[in-house]
Amino acid sequence: MMRRSKELFSEALKIFPGGVNSPIRAAVKPFPFYVLRGEGPYLYTEDGQVLVDYVLGYGPLILGHRHPEVLKRVKDQVERGWLFGAPTELEVLLARKVLDHFHADMIRFVNSGTEATMLAVRLARAVRRRDYIIKFEGCYHGAHDYLLVGAGSAASHFGVPKSEGIPKDVAGKTLIARFNDLDSVESLLKEHRDEISAIIVEPVIGNYGLIPPEKEFIKGLRELTSREDVLLIMDEVITGFRLSLGGAQEYFNVRADITTLGKIIGGGFPVGAVLGPEEIMSRITPSGKVFNAGTFNANPVTMAAGLATMEVLEKGEVYSTADRAASRLAEVLDDAAGRSGLEHCVNRIASMFQIFFTQGPVRDFRSASRSDKEKYVKFHEELLRRGIFVPPSQFEVMFTSGSHTDEVVERTAKTFEEVLRKLR
Ligand SMILES: Cc1ncc(COP(=O)(O)O)c(C=O)c1O
Repeated sequence: MMRRSKELFSEALKIFPGGVNSPIRAAVKPFPFYVLRGEGPYLYTEDGQVLVDYVLGYGPLILGHRHPEVLKRVKDQVERGWLFGAPTELEVLLARKVLDHFHADMIRFVNSGTEATMLAVRLARAVRRRDYIIKFEGCYHGAHDYLLVGAGSAASHFGVPKSEGIPKDVAGKTLIARFNDLDSVESLLKEHRDEISAIIVEPVIGNYGLIPPEKEFIKGLRELTSREDVLLIMDEVITGFRLSLGGAQEYFNVRADITTLGKIIGGGFPVGAVLGPEEIMSRITPSGKVFNAGTFNANPVTMAAGLATMEVLEKGEVYSTADRAASRLAEVLDDAAGRSGLEHCVNRIASMFQIFFTQGPVRDFRSASRSDKEKYVKFHEELLRRGIFVPPSQFEVMFTSGSHTDEVVERTAKTFEEVLRKLR
């Protein structure tokens, strides 16, 4: 069993650092499974295993794998060509949809969430003409120098929340506040009065397990930043089009100054975006002097996949199916862990959820850090053995999609119960 994946990984170890091209993939032990194809909620591996997928490419695949509408649009576009170095109608159509849902004037498409947050921070610094920014402990905004400080996701999993190789002068300009703690934000704002250009936040943390904001936190952040003339950047790379069509901003009824998107808007192809009001966005090249460019920006295949995804999402059923699946599975995890006498806390919002093996509530970096990470890894391993793929790290989240039908969910529910009994 797993012969082919083992062979491939032993070859990969010789040619890729740690055997992979993004670190979290190496967290699947003793070696990652290699994927042959995906269909709906399932992954088919090189070793003949069929897995129910609750990772979904780490968030983008809200329609599940190989959705027919997306497949058709991508095929049609590929027939016409896939890179022109000139604009296409598709980028105008996708931009119009995204801007309408997010009530923003202008957008710049880039190729990843990392590029989006990098541009957003540069833009905020240019607009406010101040160097400091604030981020939150445990939030992850991508793999660039400005924000790789106190970072969650794989950075935390592999013990490098602050990467080597980042100049002190750069890291020193990124201040860290505590999520769900407005006092920690206020004291940084006071300490660095007139030095801070922006606060960047994941409105729901999806990179340190799942940590939703408490009731007044997001509204409070909005009020504080407006009062202090600091820009509020909401990093909705995960939450955009996942919590709702208008993302976390619609869900919590709060508006950011600058929004970053990624994942879902590319329909599973590489993408990122920065959006906001005209007076801010027009500062980007070529209309302004904040530089951004990209050979693959607004790539037509990505735009086609994104557009098809939007059209399916706008019908609404995907959200009800995906949210129902997550709600049921979160409930099962909570009940089953409780019956097994395991210390645990299950957090969920819309179609994202995670179990922490610690007594709740888990509301910030510190409370999440107390969880039994080894137990979580065991949970992941036992599930994988039984054909269910949940993230290999406590610091990621489970996602559901429109393809996670009641039948798939009930089968998963039984397996969750079985595994939690065993973990007792
Ligand atoms: C909230 C958030 N921002 C930014 C990023 C970086 O996006 P990418 O991996 O596309 O560079 C991620 C990736 O997981 C993310 O979750």
